Formats: sequence, structure tokens, C-alpha cells
Amino acid sequence: MKDHSGAAPVTEGIGPWGMNLAGIGAALPDQVLTNDDLTEKIETSDEWIRERTGIGERRIGGTTSGLSLEAARKAIAAAGIDASEIDQVILATTSPDYRLPGTAPAVAHELGLQCGAFDLQAACSGWVYGLVVANGLLGQGMKKILVIGAETLDKMTDYSDRGTGILFGNGAGAAIVERTDLGQDPNGGQLLSWDLGSNGEFVRILYAEHGDTMLMDGKEVFRQAVTVIRHSAQVALDRAGLTVDDIDLIIPHQANIRIVEAAWKKLGFSLDKTAMVLERTGNTSAASIPLALDNALENGRIKSGDTVMFIGFGAGMTWATAIFKWGTNAS
Ligand code: COA
Repeated sequence: MKDHSGAAPVTEGIGPWGMNLAGIGAALPDQVLTNDDLTEKIETSDEWIRERTGIGERRIGGTTSGLSLEAARKAIAAAGIDASEIDQVILATTSPDYRLPGTAPAVAHELGLQCGAFDLQAACSGWVYGLVVANGLLGQGMKKILVIGAETLDKMTDYSDRGTGILFGNGAGAAIVERTDLGQDPNGGQLLSWDLGSNGEFVRILYAEHGDTMLMDGKEVFRQAVTVIRHSAQVALDRAGLTVDDIDLIIPHQANIRIVEAAWKKLGFSLDKTAMVLERTGNTSAASIPLALDNALENGRIKSGDTVMFIGFGAGMTWATAIFKWGTNAS
């Protein structure tokens, strides 16, 4: 076991650092809840849900730590590293196993680690927040960070509610974020720009009391989501000095296809350049972007040197955009 206790950050000799997404992994529980299954609980139809949201089915069951671990093990294998090389675990989740403690330490323990491990609660933007935080920790001398987005939203979703019951499901996605030395490897991966934001004025449009299920003002969430996506994507593009045409693939939070379509119209983004897994996962909050990333890699949609844009948005409200140049390790 590595001694992480109070180790001083190694900042000397790092130079300009970059980061590779060295390995990605995903996990979905086995149990499928289809739109047709929901018609037995609420007055709805497969056609209505698909037309209004783009969702066909979602997964339920499992635990946040269990799904995290499965995704993390796949990410570790894909990166070709040993778990003991991980310096830090960041677990973005809004549905931890316990109210106390966080879920990240248990996941780290199962991986044989005693490194720093904490949960990050930024709702559906959480995994992108985690990526930006990890980038900062790489700048402090860390070399490999496990960034997970994992949710078991079934425990806080009322599937007899017509508004929220049709949307949410469980899943996890994980990435091994690895420091590169841009001085030595100018073609390594790099976070080109990011934008993190929040507006607590909108706490009550999507929230859950302790021990209770989610309550949502769907129309207002829809409206605010479209507004913040447009804003945040443009800020990140401007900061990177890029335009829409420079982006090879956009991976948005998988909430509702109509939110994506409405935001894209104004931004001039194309759905052809967008990675979506929403139809078979539903909204998995912090897990949704790494799940879509895993799927995009599996389908060969990311090549070395590509520029990928992650856009998260959700309860809080929070939002997070990160523009990432893929290193030489893609397909
Ligand atoms: N099935 C069938 N009909 C439904 C329904 C359902 N599940 N839910 C509502 N309806 C009906 C209503 O009864 C209403 O009928 P009426 O016009 O005859 O009165 C009509 O559909 C419109 O209802 P409304 O509540 O205004 O629905 P909506 O158009 O706002 O769609 C959502 C509901 C939830 C799909 C939509 O608001 C949404 O997707 N919002 C964003 C939610 C989100 O993405 N949250 C997570 C963000 S991270």
C-alpha cells in the first residue's frame, strides 16, 4: 500500500502538464425498466415518452459503490495500469450509498487503495466538475486519478410520478485521468478550456429532501437547461479560441433529446456530431457523460487528436463544460 499520509505535492519539474483519458469503463445494472413497464404504473405511453424525451428504457438496481467499482475496474484494465498506481479517487454522485459517509472511500478500499477519496455532489454536472478538479490535482503533482460518475437514482425516483418517473435510471462511468508532460509530448491530451457555473436561485426546480424522492418543475428545468447550455458551451469555446467547427464530438449530459436539440439549434451544433445513449439509459445524472463517452469510444467515434466537448447541466442549478483534446491513445 502506498503511503499517502500527508505526502507533499510534487510540483517541481512538472512543466506544462496535460492529461490523457487513459482508460474508460462503464457499468449498467441488469434490470431493465421499459416505457411499457411504466404504463402499468402511470397513465403514459411508450410513444409519448419517446417523443417528449428520447428515452426508451432505463436500468434499475445495484448500488452506487458496486456500479462504481465495476466501471472503475474496466477503466483500470483499459488504461493498462495497476490500481495501486491511482493517487486519488473522485466519485461524482447525487445518490451515495449512505447519507454518511461518502461512497468514494469504500470504492477506493475495494480497489486496495488508501489514497484520497471523496464524493463530489454537483448533480448531473458532477463528472465534468470532477474532470476539471482532477486536472488541477495533476498540476499539484498527481499522476493518475480515477474520476467516476455513478448513480442509483431509482432509490430517489417515484416511478408513479408522471414527470420524474419516466426520466431517471442507474449506471456508472469511470475514467483514468493521467498526467502527461506537454513539454516532452506536445501531442498528449489536454484540457483546452472549461466553464463551471451555478445558480442557486433555482434550487427548488429539481430537488429531493433527505430520505424523499425527487420533485421537479419539468418545464422550468427544460427552460433553464437550454439557457445554461448555450451560455456555458459558448464560454468554453471562446476561452479555447475555438468555434463549433473545431469540435469533433460533443458529449452532453443525457437528460432529454429535446433539450439538446433546442440548445444545439442556437449554437449551430449538429446532432450527427453528438454522442447519445439516452434512449437505452434514461437520465443517469453524473454517470451519463462517461457512459456516452464509453459508448462513443466503443463505436470508434473518437480518433487521436480529436477535440471533444463535454457539457453537463442539472440540479442546483449547476453546469460544467470542458473542451478536451484527445491524446494519442484513442482508436
Ligand atoms: N405521459 C403522458 N402524458 C403526460 C405525461 C406522461 N408521463 N406527463 C405529462 N403528460 C401530459 C400532461 O397531462 C399534459 O396533458 P394536457 O396537455 O392534456 O394537460 C401534457 O402531457 C403536458 O404536460 P406537461 O407537464 O406540461 O409536460 P411537458 O411537456 O413539460 O413534458 C417533461 C414533461 C418531464 C417530459 C418535460 O418537462 C421535461 O423533459 N423537462 C426537463 C426534465 C429534465 O430533463 N430533468 C432533468 C434535468 S438534468
